[in-house]
Amino acid sequence: MVETTKEPVIQVKDFSGFYGEKVGVKDITVGFEKNKITAIIGPSGCGKSTLLRSINRMNDEIPIYKTQGKILFEGQNVYSKEINLTHFRKKVGMVFQRPTPFPMSIYENIAFGPKLHGTKKKTDLDEIVENSLRQASLFNEVKDDLKKSAWGLSGGQQQRLCIARALAVDPEVILLDEPTSALDPIATKHIENLVEELVSTYTIIIVTHNLAQAVRISDYMVYMFQGDLVEYGQTSAIVKQPADPRTEEYLTGKVS
Ligand SMILES: Nc1ncnc2c1ncn2[C@@H]1O[C@H](COP(=O)(O)OP(=O)(O)O)[C@@H](O)[C@H]1O
Ligand SMILES: [Mg+2]
Repeated sequence: MVETTKEPVIQVKDFSGFYGEKVGVKDITVGFEKNKITAIIGPSGCGKSTLLRSINRMNDEIPIYKTQGKILFEGQNVYSKEINLTHFRKKVGMVFQRPTPFPMSIYENIAFGPKLHGTKKKTDLDEIVENSLRQASLFNEVKDDLKKSAWGLSGGQQQRLCIARALAVDPEVILLDEPTSALDPIATKHIENLVEELVSTYTIIIVTHNLAQAVRISDYMVYMFQGDLVEYGQTSAIVKQPADPRTEEYLTGKVS
């Protein structure tokens, strides 16, 4: 059973992605609801990252990657020639599995995006840096070290810095690809709490191989298997009663 989405910010329609001849994801149709957390789950290699990285056209970086179908953001196909990629990527930010701070200060990491998009005034940049760090619940820990290298932060702090960096350019959607898989349980909890706070302002799509995490934080769930979207619906409903036997096998730990 695939529920229809009420107010999708991102609508994926008959979308397939191929690495050369090899299928990454096939014939995916799903909507991602505004101000909700949607978790994309499934066994390793099932196409979770491919789907996520197709949403903001990150997979375009891979020369052999080709797509069919549509992904609509605010009603516009992100694969159409008319799309302004710079503007679009500002609206759909991304955070990766390994924290990826730039080799520069904490301040400059956050100010980098806004500067690129034309914010020049020091007072404006100061304000964006502080607000973004506060939103990512990192400000109090780093407020006296803004000029220090971001590489000196712990893994969990670096990941929150990357979230702050995504927030600094005023996005609408945040894509997270296994953002806690390199973190310890306390740092993981911190990120989970943060994501739950951010969803009142942003739409969040999170890939995770941590089923318990998906159950804890997501409103909706997408279960993928071998490039197919097997099931989509409210997390509580899927966990209670999966419609597809393949989802059930995953939920009961028979597939991992
Ligand atoms: N850069 C790539 N080149 C070729 N095949 C790839 C590439 N990235 C992923 N794939 C293949 O696409 C399929 C889906 O991968 P991926 O989306 O990374 O899965 P997941 O994130 O669920 O582990 C896998 O079969 C994988 O081997
Ligand atoms: Mg992946």
